Amino acid sequence: MIPTEHCAKGSGQGKIILCGEHAVVYGYPAIALGLSCTTTVTLSAKSGPTELESGEAHATLATVIQQQLPAEGLRIAIESDVPIGKGMGSSAALAVALVRARASVQRTPLSEAQTFQQSLAIEKLFHGNPSGLDNTVAALGGVLRFEKGPPPTVTRLPMPNWSLVILDAGTAPATKEMVQQVALGFPSNSAVIEQIGALSEAIAANLEDQLFVASCMNENQALLVELGVSSEPLDTMVAWARNHGAVGAKLSGAGGGGMVIALSLQPQELLKEVEKAGISALHTRPWIPT
Ligand code: PMV
Repeated sequence: MIPTEHCAKGSGQGKIILCGEHAVVYGYPAIALGLSCTTTVTLSAKSGPTELESGEAHATLATVIQQQLPAEGLRIAIESDVPIGKGMGSSAALAVALVRARASVQRTPLSEAQTFQQSLAIEKLFHGNPSGLDNTVAALGGVLRFEKGPPPTVTRLPMPNWSLVILDAGTAPATKEMVQQVALGFPSNSAVIEQIGALSEAIAANLEDQLFVASCMNENQALLVELGVSSEPLDTMVAWARNHGAVGAKLSGAGGGGMVIALSLQPQELLKEVEKAGISALHTRPWIPT
């Protein structure tokens, strides 16, 4: 029961995957970076049925609200600058924000393990059977090496001195569909998946070496193309980034569309080109919430 006199907020972060998407579903490590874009859920008391006051309403969100919150007595406000449908972890950021706001309104502190389990339950409503990578980085931020559990193995890696340019290559299909597509190719694609896992391991050990990280990103992209999860807009954007000074570029997330992440030794030069070409982009570093 939620005490009506108490209102609360909870937040979760957006993310990109530097290496290891899809392979992480098969137990290999992935490297993810939490970003400063954030989703905040505010719960406040009201009389009558629980309702969404602000935030983009959609069918899965309605199910999440129905399953996760009391039917009566709450006003829910969702604010977010995490791009939706771009492989930047918007559903995981929402899941973490919601469980934190709920715990705060109930005055029950959440351990990291509880935050993980409760937000994973919500992620399952969005994505079927997620690895847990997205909701882990949405909760912890920074740079993480993640291996699926249960329980997952999560290692915080040092913050690198480089930044990334994130380029918009259009909308991504549902993560669930892309994960199913890879599963249809299993086990014939297992050697490709294993090679992706090895790249994550190599990046984790050499995170400060920009050129090495960039070459792993390029190899990762080639392997993701082999897995069949890239797309024409993604391939075009990856090629554009490399032709305009990026030393490494790859898709990020489940693929089929969404964002391309690019590593450049001179990000400001790349950003000038991005502006000239009218591409929607972000310039970002990994971020840890305070
Ligand atoms: O939801 P996205 O686009 O960030 O992709 C999640 C990463 C996958 O490895 C493709 C799926 C998973 O559950 O880890």
